[in-house]
Amino acid sequence: MQDAISIIKDEHISISSVLKGLVTHVEDALGAKRDFDPFLVSAMLDYIETVPERVHHPKEDQYLFRLLRKRTDKANEALDQLEEEHKKSKLLLKDMRVALAQCKKDGDLKNFAEAMNSYSRFHFAHMRKEEKDVFPLAVEYLTPEDWKEVHEAFRLNMKVDMV
Ligand SMILES: [Fe+2]
Repeated sequence: MQDAISIIKDEHISISSVLKGLVTHVEDALGAKRDFDPFLVSAMLDYIETVPERVHHPKEDQYLFRLLRKRTDKANEALDQLEEEHKKSKLLLKDMRVALAQCKKDGDLKNFAEAMNSYSRFHFAHMRKEEKDVFPLAVEYLTPEDWKEVHEAFRLNMKVDMV
């Protein structure tokens, strides 16, 4: 159980680090402390698309959330919200991509900064909600077999990430 939760929390820390780096870079560029680097920002958006959007969120839905719904209905309301947020997150990422493409054309960073702030605030709140409203219930209700399944899924995740 502890291993599975640790892997998921570690992924939250990695995602948070990239988001904080992105926000700092854009704030510094807006404050003329450094030049805006569209290639660096593109690479950060690629990470966001690959790790939280394509790997982390789907595995939460398919393993942690599905198994928790099987064991208790106490988390259903939070899980409904979080699954909706996983869908919304993809749309907010798309907004960032569109705003970045526009910024590359016209050099206006403000629209991108707005889209980035929407995504990052949304995602930080989302992860806090998971850690506060879902993980404790998972610890209380998932069986050792459930945790084995969650751990296997997220452990494979780590291997894929490291390739
Ligand atoms: Fe998560």
